Amino acid sequence: MTIIVAKPGEVQFPKGMEGVIARETTKGYVDGQKGKLYYHGIPIEEIAEHSTYEEVFFLLMYDKLPTKDELSILEMRMRQYREIPDAVYDFIKSRAGGYNVHPMSILRTAVSMLAPFDDASEEQAAAEREAIKITSRMATITAAIGRVRRGLEPIHPRYELSHAANFLYMYLGEDQDDFMNRLMDVLLILHADHGCNASTFATLVVISTLADMYSAIVGGISALKGPLHGGANERAMAMLDEIGSEKDAEPWILNAIAKKKKIMGFGHRVYKAYDPRARILHSYAEEITKRAGTERWLNIASTIERVMIAKLGAKGIFPNVDFYSGTVMSSMGIERRLFTPIFATGRVAGWAAHAVEQLKDNRIYRPRFIYVGPVDASYTPIDER
Ligand code: SDX
Repeated sequence: MTIIVAKPGEVQFPKGMEGVIARETTKGYVDGQKGKLYYHGIPIEEIAEHSTYEEVFFLLMYDKLPTKDELSILEMRMRQYREIPDAVYDFIKSRAGGYNVHPMSILRTAVSMLAPFDDASEEQAAAEREAIKITSRMATITAAIGRVRRGLEPIHPRYELSHAANFLYMYLGEDQDDFMNRLMDVLLILHADHGCNASTFATLVVISTLADMYSAIVGGISALKGPLHGGANERAMAMLDEIGSEKDAEPWILNAIAKKKKIMGFGHRVYKAYDPRARILHSYAEEITKRAGTERWLNIASTIERVMIAKLGAKGIFPNVDFYSGTVMSSMGIERRLFTPIFATGRVAGWAAHAVEQLKDNRIYRPRFIYVGPVDASYTPIDER
């Protein structure tokens, strides 16, 4: 029997629902102790080396790697949905340039704006098609936000490019070489799915009420915005900037640890070992920082990693996906405030796949509170208060 009335602290329960099981899934598995991540059983290292974002989206949505024809059909469907309504471009142009508005707020609003232009948006049966539409369009919206923030006109999507290459073309304004396009693909792949993280759980809660897919994805975007979740990449980069040089890194981080500050890009609710995504990004960081002449950031980051692991590794505090992603994206010429929208542009595949899985075996999420307030209270008229 669940106790629901008690004194504050009387009943123990896992804060932040730590370790609470939400549902069964076949999408992905995070082995926190061993620092392993699997998409439908396939290790992320193999996925990052051989796959593409479109193929990962298929794997997450349909629980299998696609045949050539199946992949071509999904790629064609995603390409046909790339363009967004003029009204959404107009909104982005009217508001995204204001530096006091976080791009995640523009992204959240722009994705929400797509729904009224989509006649099928309210149909439950259309959930899978809406998932493909939104996953495709998030890249177009994020690129447009990035252009307007730099005082540039949005660039419309092209249809012969891959999802990742088309994003970089729309954002950077010209075709990129194979290394840059591959690195963008790997960034999107690494961010695609990660168990029952806060933004995926937010998506599940919304879709479990049988709200539409747009509402569910907007819930995921909203949760991802927070600095404890998707917003850490931006703050980790700001930390590297604040430190400024490799020689100042060790004293800076020792001082921060002494003050028990939360170091952005480190620690994880599930990983108590090195986040495998951080390891993959670290390997790409060596190449991209050399190309961009930004080795300074990598040297600072490597010093921080060494000291953090020496001091807090025993507590299970290691780099997470957000620690090197900033160094990589900055070195690609991507501005800091776009890091989290790009995280969302990758994670939308996981949000969508989990939402479709939830609808196949749905029960509304409705946990309980333990009430520790007054009982048997009575109403006091305002003149007597
Ligand atoms: C993501 O869930 C996911 O899978 C998320 C994600 C995904 O792909 O969806 O992997 C993406 O969100 C990665 C995490 C990005 N956030 C950050 O980098 C922000 C900094 N990290 C911390 O805020 C923290 O590690 C969390 C939020 C990620 C996890 O928090 P928990 O599990 O609630 O851990 P906690 O805050 O209870 O800390 C436990 C102990 C504490 O020390 P004590 O009080 O027990 O002595 O570990 C310490 C904390 O102080 N600790 C840290 C730390 N993170 C935890 N100490 C210094 N620096 C840190 N970053």
